[in-house]
Amino acid sequence: MKTIAISTTGGDAPGMNAAIRAAVRTAVAENFKVIGFERGYAGILDDDYRILNARNVGGIIHLGGTVLKTSRSEEMKTEKGIAKASNVLKDNDVEGLVVIGGNGSFRGALEINKKSGIPIIGIPATIDNDIAGTDTTIGFDTAVNTALEAIDKIRDTATSHQRIFVVEVMGRDRGFLALEVGIGAGAEIILLPEITYNIKQICSKLIESNLKGKKSGIIVMAEGAGDYVNITKKIEDDTKFELRPIRLGHVQRGGNPTAYSRLLACKMGAASIKFLLNGKRKEITAIRSNDIVPVDLEYAIKAHKRIDEQIYHLALKLAA
Ligand code: F6P
Repeated sequence: MKTIAISTTGGDAPGMNAAIRAAVRTAVAENFKVIGFERGYAGILDDDYRILNARNVGGIIHLGGTVLKTSRSEEMKTEKGIAKASNVLKDNDVEGLVVIGGNGSFRGALEINKKSGIPIIGIPATIDNDIAGTDTTIGFDTAVNTALEAIDKIRDTATSHQRIFVVEVMGRDRGFLALEVGIGAGAEIILLPEITYNIKQICSKLIESNLKGKKSGIIVMAEGAGDYVNITKKIEDDTKFELRPIRLGHVQRGGNPTAYSRLLACKMGAASIKFLLNGKRKEITAIRSNDIVPVDLEYAIKAHKRIDEQIYHLALKLAA
């Protein structure tokens, strides 16, 4: 019986558990032995794992977070760490590793593949949706909806007090999350790392809107686009309007995965095992339109995923 290992690494994302469940049940149906490493790469380095089977991945499809826990491992950025992780996998006769995570996770997985030759399948699970080659990632849809629920509440108080809120959303150094949240929230202004902005122009636009009768508003700002508190102060000083900064923070990482995040996780989790069976050795399970296709792991890490500027301009036009 061949052994497959599963690990969730890096920032957690809603839907990771659904992916674990799908990968395990698909692998067990193909007569694989499945081991789940605890705490991401830290668990691999510690040789800390448990046997996973069809039964002990039951009742998790709806849970946010990851039952295998996760971590960010500095040791995996070293030759020594990569060698140690590779040896642990070989000592456990692992013939395929499924890594569920984001960019950082995939970089570590690629190094393990290069060092050990063990086939690696990456399942893109990150709320940032910054993985090249795939239309979207597990957890992104859930994070967008979580942020929208919060902003809909913020808009109530903004309207009541005739205030403008600067809402910082996650996304690391990219604007995919902020853009989709911005258009869905009907934000008057969306600030992204990918599109330069001018404070003076922002203030003129807010003053113009105010004169037209728009006495409150929402500015959605990606965390990679600057300091949301500083931006708030600059706009307040310039316009004399009442503003409030708010950081949504890690609430965007939790919660029950949406139907779409669960569906994506089921499809990608099952596909990861099929890819191993078909001899794939370093790919991710990418979604293109509705199909799950293999995309080279190195490409997914190194290629630059473009932001959809048409959505950006549409959002601003509709919020005028
Ligand atoms: O990569 C997911 C993410 O939530 C980013 O959007 C964010 O910048 C980062 O993780 C936060 O990292 P940590 O969970 O280590 O605070």
